[in-house]
Amino acid sequence: MGTKGKIIKCKAAIAWEGNKPLSIEEVEVAPPKDHEVRIQIIATALCHSDAHILHPQFEGGFFPVILGHEAAGIVESVGPGVTNFKPGDKVIPLYAPQCGKCKFCLSPCTNFCGKLKHFKNPMGDQKLMEDGTSRFTCKGKPIYHFMGTSTFSQYTVVSDVNLAKLDDDANLERVCLLGCAFSTGYGAVINNAKVTPGSTCAIFGLGGVGLSAVMGCKASGASRIIVIDINSEKFTKAKALGATDCLNPKDLDKPIQEVIIEMTNGGVDFAFECVGGAKIMVGKVSLLFQSWLLTTRIRNWIWMHWCPIPYLLTKSMRHLT
Ligand SMILES: NC(=O)c1ccc[n+]([C@@H]2O[C@H](COP(=O)([O-])OP(=O)(O)OC[C@H]3O[C@@H](n4cnc5c(N)ncnc54)[C@H](O)[C@@H]3O)[C@@H](O)[C@H]2O)c1
Ligand SMILES: [Zn+2]
Ligand SMILES: [Zn+2]
Repeated sequence: MGTKGKIIKCKAAIAWEGNKPLSIEEVEVAPPKDHEVRIQIIATALCHSDAHILHPQFEGGFFPVILGHEAAGIVESVGPGVTNFKPGDKVIPLYAPQCGKCKFCLSPCTNFCGKLKHFKNPMGDQKLMEDGTSRFTCKGKPIYHFMGTSTFSQYTVVSDVNLAKLDDDANLERVCLLGCAFSTGYGAVINNAKVTPGSTCAIFGLGGVGLSAVMGCKASGASRIIVIDINSEKFTKAKALGATDCLNPKDLDKPIQEVIIEMTNGGVDFAFECVGGAKIMVGKVSLLFQSWLLTTRIRNWIWMHWCPIPYLLTKSMRHLT
């Protein structure tokens, strides 16, 4: 018996409150309504932005919520009015919607869909579906969506504009990283900074975003890719992806920016902050000051207000389909 039109009971990781571990619970996932799609999540990764929500100093958290926004899955069923997806399609949920019709989606200057124009922050404002209700229930209580995706659940419901279709042979366990980290880091290098061949680059932080930025710099033909992390275990993978110099600030006896300025005879051409910290940003700007002063910042809540991240994300996503 199919599940179309029925409530699906499955497991999900619920954040009941901030600063506490997630709790694996049985949830009920309602069928998709108009222009909605229900997806079986096959693979989901953990982005640091999920963890930010749980941080006690994060303002604007909402609970209980199902986090997760970096995933890939298979369409289980579609609601009325959905024409571009069908059951069985492999898909990636997108936290930055793309209606494909509004003047912003049609403009080559931005991918910041007009659907976002009423939102101050797509993370906070996509906590319910468009009709103002949730599709998740646990122990009789409605549970908030997160970033319009909520992928820490075996099944989730998203709007049909928050979804990208994949090739049938896509490996879902790998391509889930395209849902956030890869598109953010690689897109920042290629679409925003437009790193040039032969240039020198510095990348702070080697999580999913930073390692993707390393790949972008390598693909752009950068001659020197200096990576900085306080966890030296990250350097093996960074080198495999193209890093030329690895620095751990804990091992240095002077500020990191001074070290890099000396190493590069005055500073790098491009610097990428992929940690999520204001102090690092300040240090990075001083490191660039003697040269070009071109910076790319990767940190959600500031980035979202400034607009480029959805641009980067969806620009990259378009190459997928
Ligand atoms: N679209 C967006 O705007 C967007 C998308 C994804 C992630 N982000 C943000 O980007 C940041 C990175 O995300 P991630 O998932 O790659 O994180 P992550 O936690 O996987 O990686 C962060 C890395 O930074 C390193 N680090 C921590 N403090 C450091 C310091 N002082 N100096 C150097 N390195 C340091 C850590 O050891 C770790 O390797 C987060 O703040 C996240 O919220 C933004
Ligand atoms: Zn993310
Ligand atoms: Zn649009």
